[in-house]
Amino acid sequence: MPLSHELKDRITKDYFLRYATKRAALMPALWMAQQEHGWLSRETVEEVAELLDMHPTDVAAVASFYVMFNHRPVGKKIVEVCENPSCVINGATETLHRICERLGIPAGAHHGGATTADGEFTVRPTECVAACDKAPVIQVNSRYYGPVPPDKVDEFLADMEKFNVEGLPAANDLEGRAKHLRREVR
Ligand code: FES
Repeated sequence: MPLSHELKDRITKDYFLRYATKRAALMPALWMAQQEHGWLSRETVEEVAELLDMHPTDVAAVASFYVMFNHRPVGKKIVEVCENPSCVINGATETLHRICERLGIPAGAHHGGATTADGEFTVRPTECVAACDKAPVIQVNSRYYGPVPPDKVDEFLADMEKFNVEGLPAANDLEGRAKHLRREVR
């Protein structure tokens, strides 16, 4: 599906004015494209490249570097378990396996992630989310939860309603953002 005219207008009329070159608007353009479609297909990457006068390979290279860009369709809620040292030594690998098991995803999720049959959850490992003091940490969409050791996974998944959160508070509401983004499980 092509990107909407509204999104293209926003990139060209708003974001191009903020930067010295069109290319510099690549990250917000990719992010908005993903917000609209949920993931970045080859078609979307090519559209963004055309809009920014870039080669699609260069756009794809940037998109593939960052873990927050999805390269295949994902579930409504993305459950990411940190797999960096502070979290792994506190049981993150077992936490990830247990989440997969509880959500009915057959094997441990690999980096591309695995999605439940109802399209509700995608589970995948991720890099450090900068909340190491709460290891092992899980990020669900934009919110962090922790610590979630393996024996707390059932409790963590018991109330899935808590994952249905509204968007982030405004960027200048730092206290609101901090509260929104971090939830302690115990
Ligand atoms: S190592 Fe997991 S949040 Fe930093």
